[in-house]
Amino acid sequence: MIQPLKNQNPTQLQKEVAKRRTFAIISHPDAGKTTLTEKLLLYSNAVDLAGAVRGRKSQRHATSDWMSIEQERGISITSTVLQFQYNNCYVNLLDTPGHQDFSEDTYRTLMAVDSAVMVLDAAKGIEAQTKKLFEVCRMRHIPILTFINKMDHVAREPLQLLDEIEKILGIPAVAINWPIGDGPTFQGVYDLQKDQVLRFNRTEHGQRKAPVTVSDVDDLALLQLLGKEAHSALREDVELLSIAGTSFDEKQYLAGDMTPVYFGSALNNFGVEPFLDALIQLAPPPQPRQLVDGDLAIPEQEDFSGFVFKIQANMNPKHRDSIAFMRICSGRFQKDMVVSHPRLGRNVRLTRPYQLFAQGRSSLEEAFPGDVLGLANPGLFTIGDSLSTGKLASFLPLPSFEPEFFALIRNKDTAKHKQFHKGIEQLVKEGAIQRLFALDDSQIHPLLAAVGKLQFEVVEARLKTEYNVEVEIEYLPYTGARRINADLQELAKISWPSGVMEVKDGNNQTVALFSSEWEIRRCIDKYPNITFQEFGFGVNNTWENKGDRNRPNR
Ligand code: G4P
Repeated sequence: MIQPLKNQNPTQLQKEVAKRRTFAIISHPDAGKTTLTEKLLLYSNAVDLAGAVRGRKSQRHATSDWMSIEQERGISITSTVLQFQYNNCYVNLLDTPGHQDFSEDTYRTLMAVDSAVMVLDAAKGIEAQTKKLFEVCRMRHIPILTFINKMDHVAREPLQLLDEIEKILGIPAVAINWPIGDGPTFQGVYDLQKDQVLRFNRTEHGQRKAPVTVSDVDDLALLQLLGKEAHSALREDVELLSIAGTSFDEKQYLAGDMTPVYFGSALNNFGVEPFLDALIQLAPPPQPRQLVDGDLAIPEQEDFSGFVFKIQANMNPKHRDSIAFMRICSGRFQKDMVVSHPRLGRNVRLTRPYQLFAQGRSSLEEAFPGDVLGLANPGLFTIGDSLSTGKLASFLPLPSFEPEFFALIRNKDTAKHKQFHKGIEQLVKEGAIQRLFALDDSQIHPLLAAVGKLQFEVVEARLKTEYNVEVEIEYLPYTGARRINADLQELAKISWPSGVMEVKDGNNQTVALFSSEWEIRRCIDKYPNITFQEFGFGVNNTWENKGDRNRPNR
């Protein structure tokens, strides 16, 4: 990823593009994503007190009213969008839900950002979900800033944490600041670039901005505070890093090949402000995007373009409305503009655009590349739709992702056969779920496939509320699927082990469901003439947003 060319007399559009930063936070549940989000809003003055946007877990139950499951479970099912201003920049933060609310939406959100922030728990390092999300970022070569959180708790050795990022994720991790102690002895960080100490002053609640004391490493007060031993350990660490540590290379960061690392404590507001400053300074503005015809949509060009990466129905249960989330890729968006909609082969007028802020929304007159807006969706838009003016064509289709959960879905009331199938069809179209077909009692049954279990619950709830259909979900023990590519003769020779289920996809292609990686490998060894094709991007790796890499150098 490369920043745009510097221009002596930038147009209004170029200025707006240069001001945008659109990113998502990737983390494993409980690492502190919500807390860091709140604190970024606090430091950007978007909210007065941290915690005002989304309640803490204990309160979330009461604050969210999007869907009833959301209320019941106290979770945020679907990604929210937050836009705030900081240092003359417009920052768009797209939330990626975690936990059981992990779904394809989580992955797709990463298709709509230009960079990501990876939050790690200092005691735990890289965890499973962080790794999965990181892989999606890597596919797009998205630059990633790392925040190692919870330094006020007992933490792992900082060098060990950096090493783990390098080993597990395969990119160099370069510390920008260095923690001084951890847990009860956490005193602050040493800024390795500015050669100064930022001292951590413990605050009572962490809701308001924390005071920070800046001092020199030789400051007598610091020596007294740390004690002789800890003070010389810090000096040694700093010296060692300056000699042996990898130095930060902005180009490598922008290419997604290196991550700068910041230590801090989001809950205590420590390290949040320097991190936000770094985000504004380092994170790239909106990047060009690859179009199907091989061209690029360049953010600063006049022609407008954008794509839909998420559909949220039922955002307002009173009106049962559906909102399409569109990321603007180029040109200026204006309310009521007429755009071409290549999938429908006609023009549409974008009459009801909304600016989304967490669960709220307000109407909007104009927006620029990098911004995400909500469009009222009376059935016009679906995930992956491109919208544009001028000569721009369609964007590359969004990739599909490797399902890890499978379930049979049965209609409880056969009289509602039509609604049942119509509802599933719609949810598949929206990308809420993937669908396969199983042969059961010589009947064909839809079989659902998802990246997160919550997707099944959402399907069940939406079929009930939107289509008045009650269903039964039977969870299956499979954890992976492969498309089976073989000629008919080879196919006929297959005799699957008892733990494997053979089903079909929407194109009547054979798909095998497996209950373990080991089982997949065993079958691959047994049938060398058959191709076991993975489902998601991981497999064929054909999806890559080449636009991100094709930008001319600064
Ligand atoms: P998530 O969105 O990544 O799932 O994490 P979240 O921010 O909800 O944080 C998970 C837990 O970790 C929360 O505590 C939160 O208060 C705590 N936490 C976040 N940052 C820090 C930090 O810098 N230091 C410490 N010590 N704790 C931190 P909880 O008890 O699970 O929930 P709550 O009742 O505080 O909401």
